[in-house]
Amino acid sequence: MSRKRPHRFAPAVLLAAVVLMLAACGVEYPNSTFNHTSDLNTAIDALWDRLLLLGTIVFVFVEVLLIFTIYKFRKRPGGAPAKQIHGHAALEITWTVIPALILVLIAVPTVRTIFKTQAKAPAGSLEVTVIGHQWWWEFRYPSLGITTANELYIPAGKTVNFTLQSRDVIHSFWTPQLGGKRDLITNRTNYLWYTVNADLAENVFNGFCTEYCGASHANMRFRVYTVSPDKFDSWTKRQQANGVMSPIPSVAAAPVVALASVAGSKAKAPATPPAPASQLAVDGYVYPLAQMPKWTIPQTPVPSEIKFDDALLAGGDSARGHEMVANTKNMGTVPCLTCHIIRGEYTAMGLKDDVAAGPNLTHIASRHTFAAGLYPTTPANLARWIKNAQVMKPGSLMTVLGAGEYNPMLKKTNGSTALDDRQIADIVAYLMALK
Ligand code: CUA
Repeated sequence: MSRKRPHRFAPAVLLAAVVLMLAACGVEYPNSTFNHTSDLNTAIDALWDRLLLLGTIVFVFVEVLLIFTIYKFRKRPGGAPAKQIHGHAALEITWTVIPALILVLIAVPTVRTIFKTQAKAPAGSLEVTVIGHQWWWEFRYPSLGITTANELYIPAGKTVNFTLQSRDVIHSFWTPQLGGKRDLITNRTNYLWYTVNADLAENVFNGFCTEYCGASHANMRFRVYTVSPDKFDSWTKRQQANGVMSPIPSVAAAPVVALASVAGSKAKAPATPPAPASQLAVDGYVYPLAQMPKWTIPQTPVPSEIKFDDALLAGGDSARGHEMVANTKNMGTVPCLTCHIIRGEYTAMGLKDDVAAGPNLTHIASRHTFAAGLYPTTPANLARWIKNAQVMKPGSLMTVLGAGEYNPMLKKTNGSTALDDRQIADIVAYLMALK
């Protein structure tokens, strides 16, 4: 009786297995690599499918043979002793030749795919330079004169050639759904290129650093927006424009005079007076926030130990914030422009991409995430970031600016000359205007 029990459970086990399999179909896999979204991952997946098929054939053949042998030649009570054999040339040749043939079947498509994906990018590809920093991503479009951070736009249907570099340690550039991954190595340039399918004209994908690079390695993420060529051109125009509020003429003109008089030479007015802010207002495509799939929206909990009076944000004055960020007389206390470029702002340092320590902020408000994809770009999050970035993202190079906050870089608590919540609210209002 009891020996028959397993059979009674068989239908239930089968049903459970089917339910489990169907349940797996209903789950979304937003970071799956088994996609055909680009020529690169299509080629790699085709190779994988072939290896899986060959591997499965070998597995089934070997296992069937094994089980058959175990059953057929099992020890029986009173059976004759097993026949002893030494060597069998035909068998040995067979089991050497067959695996060799299988390896050839694997090697040929593997080597072909390697040569195809490691070749130089086709001429006319869109060039994007990806620079890894501890812990954020810099994206430059050298042919378009754009530098941005943590959010990458690429045109669907057009080949993009990524030039991969690192400012510090080894990072790795990976967008699981689109293809990759490839390391960013110090003092070396790697390349990765692919063409995203033309039908992915309005999609967004998660990207990750996938090489351990220090304290905030897990906080080094990015987003890739694949858009139609028209939208990409529109986005390009927006990104090429200067910051919407800059420069304020009085701010831009004053420091030139001051510097000249220090040097003892005759003060010279700037050759062309900066255009009024209204003329610099930009338009252009940004991926609609409302269309962001939920898995692309950061879920990082905002540290509760940073206290900020959110009511102040509604009254934030962007002009005052701008004055604090851009005016040289405030540079000693708020040195934003010693590390960040806001194109169009006057900066005495003449900061260039290659020496800027922090992300380019020219259009920060056009990015849906900041701090390397860690937080949604909202006034409340930006305020806490400015107040105490070290708590928001451990090990970040961003200094702690809030009054009364502990600054681990200086090993002391900021005094009252640091920014109060009202000033931070003004700076946030300014940053949120940089669309
Ligand atoms: Cu950069 Cu891990």
